[in-house]
Amino acid sequence: MKALEGVKILDFTHVQSGPTCTQLLAWFGADVIKVERPGVGDATRKQLVDVPGADSLYFTMLNHNKRSIELNSKNETGKEVLTRLIETCDVMVENFAPGALDRMGFTWERIQEINPKMILASVKGFGPGKYEDCKVYENVAQCAGGAASTTGFLDGPPLVTGAQIGDSGTGLHLALGIVTALYQAAKTGKGQKVLAPMQDGVINLCRVKLRDQQRLKAGPLKEYSQYGEGIEFGDATPRAGNDSGGGQPGRILKCKGWHDDPNAYTYFITQAAVWDKICDVIGEPGWKTAEEFATPEKRLPHLDAIFARIEDWTMTKSKYEVMEICNPLNIPVGPILSTKEIMEDEGLRKTGTIVEVEHPERGTYVSVGCPIKLSESPVEVTRSPLLGEHTVEILSEVLGYDGEELAKVVESGAVGDVNKAAAE
Ligand code: COA
Repeated sequence: MKALEGVKILDFTHVQSGPTCTQLLAWFGADVIKVERPGVGDATRKQLVDVPGADSLYFTMLNHNKRSIELNSKNETGKEVLTRLIETCDVMVENFAPGALDRMGFTWERIQEINPKMILASVKGFGPGKYEDCKVYENVAQCAGGAASTTGFLDGPPLVTGAQIGDSGTGLHLALGIVTALYQAAKTGKGQKVLAPMQDGVINLCRVKLRDQQRLKAGPLKEYSQYGEGIEFGDATPRAGNDSGGGQPGRILKCKGWHDDPNAYTYFITQAAVWDKICDVIGEPGWKTAEEFATPEKRLPHLDAIFARIEDWTMTKSKYEVMEICNPLNIPVGPILSTKEIMEDEGLRKTGTIVEVEHPERGTYVSVGCPIKLSESPVEVTRSPLLGEHTVEILSEVLGYDGEELAKVVESGAVGDVNKAAAE
């Protein structure tokens, strides 16, 4: 038994934000029916192609455990099929450009008429307001959500991060909204609209930066490196390089091999509780009693000097040795892992966070499995569907079309070319 077994999701999502959400729901056991444009499908199927003729990793890594139906939702018969799907499913998830669903004729009012219990979950770039009609991609959301202005170094331009907080981050927010709405619907019998704007999702993830924005009124942000460097603060939360962002100062420091290896670095946190142990490890026992380092507050203006000395030590060790030495002492450190190292990590493979998946067009590829572990709802990652692979199965098994109806739908062109043998 899977947690969301029995829940049917009409997955009208594409690209990244929506698909990450429905992929999670599929991993938790929902039956996710991905509706795709006949002959075309989700645009990512053919973007950043690495194996000619095969679905791209962009698509396969975001659409595991789903079924695919090709359906032209602008064709009359296609609209009838979509109506039947709306009747049958519990949740409809979409991340079209604003207004696209209305233009297809499926307004919220119409959807409620068809199925009053339907939960309509949407990702949009912005919430209601002056930007609500804009099309938005990942980096736009990172910029408009406050992440870019607070990422990077003080003397450089704003930076976007490699973590897809605008797309996958919003997908996560949407998934929580959907599960919450399902929980409410179980009690009220009513559906509702769930909206996760990408800008809002990024702002939520930048909460501590908005904390700092308000703290500026009370004076300089003393835990930021720029305080120790004597650089004045402006009127907005500044870029903080690799400063920790919390009450415990931290930095990224070079490790042995940094000249040749771009990832030979460690994150090092000078947590107050283990200050004495840090002093001993780096060979500065005298710092334990030095007046200028006596309290965390007193150390703040000296962070550059402190981390420079710690780096002298970390540069004599590999990033893994730093971990091995510091961990038993409860000094929080973390190696900078490359994507290659992560993909080869045995521990992550054991927990199912890194998985190998078989695909008929690609062979074996590595993917990211479910990052959330439910003890009573284990996840088995299965490959993404080929375009329209389940068209006939969905029409007949989910919607109950008989042979004649099936033939009519196929003839109308609403579902693209189906495998004739399967249709018969
Ligand atoms: N049958 C027929 N038409 C279909 C269809 C189907 N199965 N699926 C999609 N379409 C149509 C849509 O109705 C739309 O037509 P319209 O413009 O005539 O109304 C058209 O395909 C294109 O959809 P759209 O969403 O505008 O795609 P796009 O490629 O132009 O824009 C985004 C892509 C991501 C920018 C846009 O969808 C968007 O802003 N989404 C919301 C924010 C978001 O999720 N962004 C992150 C993506 S990772």
